[in-house]
Amino acid sequence: MKESKRAVRIVSHKEIAGDIYDMTIACPQAAKAARPGQFMCLYCRDGSRLLPRPISICDIDAERGEIRMVYRIAGAGTKEFATLQEGDEIMVMGPLGNGFSIRDKKALLIGGGIGIPPMLALSKKIEVPKTMVLGFRDETFLLSDFEKEGDTYIATETGSAGYKGTVLDAINAEKPEADVIYACGPLPMLKAVAEYAAAHDMECQISLEERMACGIGACLGCICRTKEKNHHTHVHNARICKDGPVFDSKEVEFE
Ligand code: FES
Repeated sequence: MKESKRAVRIVSHKEIAGDIYDMTIACPQAAKAARPGQFMCLYCRDGSRLLPRPISICDIDAERGEIRMVYRIAGAGTKEFATLQEGDEIMVMGPLGNGFSIRDKKALLIGGGIGIPPMLALSKKIEVPKTMVLGFRDETFLLSDFEKEGDTYIATETGSAGYKGTVLDAINAEKPEADVIYACGPLPMLKAVAEYAAAHDMECQISLEERMACGIGACLGCICRTKEKNHHTHVHNARICKDGPVFDSKEVEFE
């Protein structure tokens, strides 16, 4: 699908936790094409911020032609998005990137922080038994959406809900049965998940979207080291926005 920047209407937009916003846009073309693990690029109105902000897709409603995104305010761009209201227009591009490859195997979905939202779209597409494990700092969000999809365990850094600690603490306590892992979250979490998958001889797909910047291949701010040489550039790296954001965990060299 050829990508172009276009204006879309915001169908709903609200704060669902401290600095975490839930935005749905009417975008029929993108909703038809989107897959879990892909992202949209959102553009600011303020011309001084030319580069778009990549935001992961949290839910896809192809019938209604809508895409839902849940993002955290992390700078001036996302702060500007947070001021937009239902009915406003926003410039977007997408869906972009390579999403998760869904296997017909018992699944463990792991999300950490702002890496939690893309796991919701994925959980809705997986039709085999699945378990979700979500790691929050303190305040939870999207929990009732996940609970509708299957067994959901949570960990919080503060211990305010679920297991106190990390997603690995929850997994080690619950020992969910699974043959494949899909994960999205901060790098230390993904590294720990990749090690867990290797120790249990499981396939593991990880989304490195936290490392993205422009999202459109323009800034080279998203390079990750890979074990194999890239077949285009012949060096041991990959652009997360173009070659990912989802990778097989065995391909990624964690620094
Ligand atoms: Fe800018 Fe990938 S995020 S090139």
